[in-house]
Formats: sequence, structure tokens, C-alpha cells
Amino acid sequence: MRSTPNTKHSPVRPFKTKEPRKTTLWSWDKEALNADQALDTEQACKILNETLRSELFHFLRYRHHEIATKGTNFPLVAAEFKALAENEETNMIMIAERINQLGGKADFNTMETSDRSFTETDTTSDLISMLREDLIAERIAIGVYKKLIQSFEMSDPTTRYLLEKILGDEETHARGMAELLSTVDRHQQEFHS
Ligand SMILES: [Fe+2]
Repeated sequence: MRSTPNTKHSPVRPFKTKEPRKTTLWSWDKEALNADQALDTEQACKILNETLRSELFHFLRYRHHEIATKGTNFPLVAAEFKALAENEETNMIMIAERINQLGGKADFNTMETSDRSFTETDTTSDLISMLREDLIAERIAIGVYKKLIQSFEMSDPTTRYLLEKILGDEETHARGMAELLSTVDRHQQEFHS
């Protein structure tokens, strides 16, 4: 026997279209913007600024390595450094924009960059050492981003999504760097043999 639909009680819950407007705090004020999240925006911006400085540090590092390898026997390595610098810069800008969205101020203070980056200052000059240090820096960055993603997991899904995207880039950088290191190492050994 077929049941007749109950037309008196709709399964769709009544929804007042003006209600979200009342409850959503539509304001430029940073606390109001995030009032529905358990997010400490000040702390979030502080962490993101440390991340930004680290990306800035990596960007400068790859630009330095790009210039240092131009005119050598490895033009493809110089091109790879250029591509990496551009990617680090893109990620840095995205982090800065997120800080801005959260009501913070993006800090591009290069004076503090080397002290407050995840990784250490670059003092190497030969190509193999550069690549090795870059690989270490990328692996450190991967570990840091994994921890950051956990810390933003529930409180700020937008930032978490951004960090996951950057983590994917850092993993790609590390893989590329490992391949580059082994290729250059092989070429140099063949050259000297
Ligand atoms: Fe990277």
C-alpha cells in the first residue's frame, strides 16, 4: 500500500531569510568577522607572519641561487631556482593576504627574516652545497607546515586550506630538489672522472 505524503508537515525546516543577516556579524571589525570561529586572530596572524617571513627568506634564497648559477654549466638549474623563487613569492603573497583578511598586518621586515625563518641563513657558494641546503630547508618547511595545518585544523578551515596548498608546493619543491641534486652530483662526478 502506497503511503501518501504528509502535506501538513514539510520535512524542510522553516528558514527565515533575514535571520542569517541578523546573526552574521557583517563587519570590518576583525573580532566580529571571526565571531563564529574559535580563532584567536592575533595569535593566528603572529603565526602566519612567521610563516610569511620564512617564505620571504626562501624567496630571497632562491633568487640568490638563481643569480649565482646563471652563466654556469647548469642553466636549467638557474631556471629551476627562478621558478622556485616565483612559487615561494606567490605563497608569501597568499599568506600576506590571509593575514589581511584576519585583520592583521603582514610583516615583510627583512631585517628579522634570517632570525625568524624556519630555516637557517644560507652561507654556501658551491652548487652541490646550495642544493643540499635547499633540500634540507624544504624538508624542514614540510614538517613545519604539517604542524601548522594541525593547529589551524578546526579553528580556521580557510587558513588550513591555504597551508595545505603550500604544503603540497613544498613537497613538490623537495622532490624536485632531490632530483636536481642527484643529477648535478652525477654530472660533476662524470666531469671529474
Ligand atoms: Fe619551498
